[in-house]
Amino acid sequence: TQRTLVLLKPDAVRRGLIGEIIGRIERKANWTISALELRSLDQDTLEAHYGEHKGKPFYEPLVAFMSSGPIVALVVEGERVIEGVRQLAGPTDPIAAQPGSIRGDFGTIVRENLIHASDSEESAERELKLFFPGLV
Ligand code: GTP
Ligand code: MG
Repeated sequence: TQRTLVLLKPDAVRRGLIGEIIGRIERKANWTISALELRSLDQDTLEAHYGEHKGKPFYEPLVAFMSSGPIVALVVEGERVIEGVRQLAGPTDPIAAQPGSIRGDFGTIVRENLIHASDSEESAERELKLFFPGLV
């Protein structure tokens, strides 16, 4: 069994979509939410989290957006949850995302795509340590 880091981005929180998005995760069989926190992200955390994108044209606006309001951070555990939450989210560009996915149902702008989910076991371990250092 796996665990993954999920972030509900500031657009999701502002638009009142926390319940809608968490509900979709919660209803999947054999998955459990094992930590959950509403918080604002500082620059150091964002730099560490999005370090792979540093230097790309969308990096600065992405970091500004991610610090524009509170986010919700969750740890989700369960069967194939890393690939599973990525599937629920849909592709990065919400216009390319299928209706039925979170980004496909609620997004239009690439930057404001509602949700982050770890993309591999390695990213999940690194991101979980960054956001939930106390996690055992
Ligand atoms: P995350 O789960 O947030 O990491 O999204 P992702 O894995 O689907 O995308 P990726 O890691 O490649 O990019 C991180 C975030 O940067 C995306 O979710 C978008 O918000 C933003 N982003 C990525 N590519 C672009 C782009 O080409 N243009 C813009 N404006 N934003 C982008
Ligand atoms: Mg990513």
